[in-house]
Amino acid sequence: MTLPHAVLIVGVGSIGERHLRCFQSTGRAEVSFVEVNPSLRATIAERYGVCGFADLEAALADRGGASPSNSLSAVVATPANRHLEIATRLAEAGRHLLIEKPLSTNTNGVSRLASVVRERGVVVSVAYVYRCFPALGAMREALLSGRFGKPVEIVAVCGQNFPTYRPAYRDIYYNDHATGGGAIQDALTHVLNAGEWLVGPIDRLVADAAHQVLADVTVEDTVHVLTRQSGVLGSYSLNQHQAPNEVTLTVICEQGTVRWESHAHRWRWMVRPDEPWHDESHEPLPRDAAFITQASRFLDAVDGIAKPLCTLEEGVQTLQVNLAALASVESGSWQKVGGAS
Ligand SMILES: NC(=O)c1ccc[n+]([C@@H]2O[C@H](COP(=O)([O-])OP(=O)(O)OC[C@H]3O[C@@H](n4cnc5c(N)ncnc54)[C@H](O)[C@@H]3O)[C@@H](O)[C@H]2O)c1
Repeated sequence: MTLPHAVLIVGVGSIGERHLRCFQSTGRAEVSFVEVNPSLRATIAERYGVCGFADLEAALADRGGASPSNSLSAVVATPANRHLEIATRLAEAGRHLLIEKPLSTNTNGVSRLASVVRERGVVVSVAYVYRCFPALGAMREALLSGRFGKPVEIVAVCGQNFPTYRPAYRDIYYNDHATGGGAIQDALTHVLNAGEWLVGPIDRLVADAAHQVLADVTVEDTVHVLTRQSGVLGSYSLNQHQAPNEVTLTVICEQGTVRWESHAHRWRWMVRPDEPWHDESHEPLPRDAAFITQASRFLDAVDGIAKPLCTLEEGVQTLQVNLAALASVESGSWQKVGGAS
C-alpha cells in the first residue's frame, strides 16, 4: 500500500530516531532518513527497515524513495546550529518542514528561510512538543475560554536530573552554547515557549544562570528568568540536577488560578480562597504519545486540515527569547526581546 506522505528525517540521534518511529506509527508516512554517522545509519536502517542516506543531496536526488503521489516533508533533527541551513535547503527542494527546537542558536539565516518558505509555499512547524501534552492543551483551552478572567502572572518551576535521562550529555550538542547547549537553549526553551503559548509573547526579560552541579561541562545548568508578556508578569526557574522530574506552570488570572503539573498528568484550578484545587486528570501516556500526536498534527497541517502547532514566527520569537536570556546573563541587565536592552 502506498502511503500519502513521504517524510525524510535528517539526523537520527536521540530525538530523530523517536521522530522516525513516531511518524511510522501514524500509518500515514513512508519514512527515510539522512544520518552522517555510518554505524548509526546502519543500525537505524536495520532496526526500522527503512532507507538511510549518507547525505542530504543524495536523499533529495532519490526523493527519499517517495512515489510521485507522495506529499514530501522532512524533519530537521540535527543539533540546532545546523537547523536553518538544512531547513532552507529542504524548503528550496519543496519539502514541508518539522524543525526541532530551538530553531537555531542565532538569527543568521532566519529571514532567508522565511523567504524560501514563502516562495515555495511549504508548511513549517517548530517541534515544541509541550503543545501536544493533553493536560497543558486542556488548561490553555480553559484559559482562552475566559472563564478565569484575564491572566496577570505566570510562574514556572521546573527541574530534572538531566544525566539520568541523557547520560551522554557531556559528549553531545549540550556541552556548548554554540551547538544549542546549556539549560536555556536546551530545556528552558520548552517552558518559555509554553508560557508564550499560554499568555502571549515575551517582550522583555532579565535572567540569571550559572553552572552549579553537572560534571564535565561548563554551560549553565540552573536558570531563573523574570519576564514581561504584555500585561503579564512572569517568573521561570529550571535546574538540570535535582532528583524530582517536575514541571509546574501556574497562571494566575483575575478570577482564578490554573496550574499544569506535567509529572502528575493533570491541570488543576481554584477560584475561591476557601476551596480545594479542582483536578482535571489525564491518563499517564507513554513517552512516544506526544510525539505521535505531533507527527499527526504536522501531517494534518501538510494536508491543509489543521494549522501548524507552532508556526515559524512563534519559533523565531522563542529563539529571540533564548538569545535575550543568554545576553541578559552575560550583561546582568534587562533585555528587549528581538532588540537592544
Ligand atoms: N523535543 C524534544 O523533546 C527534544 C529532545 C531532545 C533533543 N531535541 C532537539 O533535537 C535536536 C537534536 O538533538 P538530539 O538529542 O537528537 O541530538 P543527537 O546528537 O543525539 O543527534 C543528532 C544527530 O544528527 C546527526 N547529524 C549531524 N549533522 C547532520 C547532518 N548534516 N546530516 C544528517 N545528520 C546529521 C548526528 O550524527 C546525530 O546522530 C536538538 O536541536 C535538540 O535540542 C529535542
